[in-house]
Amino acid sequence: MPAQVHHITHPLVQHKLTLMRNKEASSTTFRTLLGELAMLMAYEVTRDTPTQLVEIETPLEKMMSPMIDGKKLVFASILRAGNGMLDGLLRVVPSARIGHVGLYRDPQTLQAVEYFYKMPGDLTERDVIAVDPMLATGHSAVAALTRLKADKPRSLKFLCLLAAPEGLKTLTAAHPDVPIYTAAIDRELNDHGYILPGLGDAGDRIFGTK
Ligand code: URA
Repeated sequence: MPAQVHHITHPLVQHKLTLMRNKEASSTTFRTLLGELAMLMAYEVTRDTPTQLVEIETPLEKMMSPMIDGKKLVFASILRAGNGMLDGLLRVVPSARIGHVGLYRDPQTLQAVEYFYKMPGDLTERDVIAVDPMLATGHSAVAALTRLKADKPRSLKFLCLLAAPEGLKTLTAAHPDVPIYTAAIDRELNDHGYILPGLGDAGDRIFGTK
């Protein structure tokens, strides 16, 4: 696996992912677990976030203590399933900014077409983490990262829950400079672009749609 791929194998992450994969998990359970997983994965994906020393006063004395500048972090949700990870990410970095990228696949050309793109101002001073629970074919992830790169973020990462080998291959080939964080690398894609064994359609399970 290329060094840019970070497989988060922490037992808590793996345990919660197993619960999510179960087809009997209700939308409420699925959503709650996805939020918890996003919180746990945020810990890894933000590991190299810069800190600055600020002066504070404890009950005993003054000290210089490290803090992050949360406003410099942007969680960029790839619609729509990416939205399911936002609550958990914001619980650990409440001052982070949120962006949205909406793409659909043109049935004729099979290319990803952008229908929505909204980011906070001046990404050149911000660290962007693009989020989508499922890295399947990788086409929308490639297109989303290409679009984000046009705004020249200070740094760019990709966070997902499940990755198919096909998606990882496509994404690492197109964006070898973007670190990818995933909780699992599954076996393969089926003919309909679903990850096997996977967890089904993440958007439908989050939002209770069909
Ligand atoms: N998107 C999903 O929600 N699930 C998959 O298995 C593949 C893409």
